[in-house]
Amino acid sequence: MHREDQRRLMGRFVALAAAYESRVGQGREHIVLKRDHSLRVHALVSRIVAREDLSQPWIYRAAALLHDIGRFSQFERFGTFRDDRSVDHGSEGAQVLRTGNYLDALKPGERQRIVQTVELHNKRELPGSLDPLTRSMCEVVRDGDKLDIVPVVLSKMRPGGPRDPVVTLGLVDDAGAWTASVLKIVERGANPAYADLGYLNDFKLLLASWGPKLSLRASRQIFAARGHLEQIFATLPQTERFACLKADLSHRLAV
Ligand SMILES: [Fe+2]
Repeated sequence: MHREDQRRLMGRFVALAAAYESRVGQGREHIVLKRDHSLRVHALVSRIVAREDLSQPWIYRAAALLHDIGRFSQFERFGTFRDDRSVDHGSEGAQVLRTGNYLDALKPGERQRIVQTVELHNKRELPGSLDPLTRSMCEVVRDGDKLDIVPVVLSKMRPGGPRDPVVTLGLVDDAGAWTASVLKIVERGANPAYADLGYLNDFKLLLASWGPKLSLRASRQIFAARGHLEQIFATLPQTERFACLKADLSHRLAV
């Protein structure tokens, strides 16, 4: 993809967000939130791809820019970002790309890889059958996505700070409460599902669990350098059990 086509794609994405912003009216800040998230994921993916010295960096950047394109129609139609209460926004985005002409400048194989990456960016597991480039694109975009979600969500969870139930999924804000099964999943080294979450503290545990599970070393380094574990555990209950979990996660993050 030529530089000029990359610039045009960026312009069209920003124009699409602007069109949804005026159509949605009230709640337009949620469209802006996803537009800005997409632009930051694009920047993060550029960094990861450069640090890992991956070839065809432009295809990673295009997939990163478009990964949440399904969020706009999801929010317009349902007023929520909860996939379990609306549509799967990865599949929605793939559909937007299949029916639109955003990727017309690309060869069919390139188009297919980007659509597949958008479709799979939010799935719990990647299928085993992906070709190496598509798998790599999925891993990098999923890493960039998580790296950007963490500070966005944390900014809406600070004690006494601004609240946004759309971002924090309407979870119960009780500083001393968490779901026992969610804590156990994270202690086991796994990631809870969004559907498992009941309290804000569960969401913090989910965000913390992502760090060591980022696919690329460059991504784990960014997570560590940004101090996310420290930020998350500073607002969780100050108990021995949480301190042990923090130590374990930061050890696994550094591996
Ligand atoms: Fe997404």
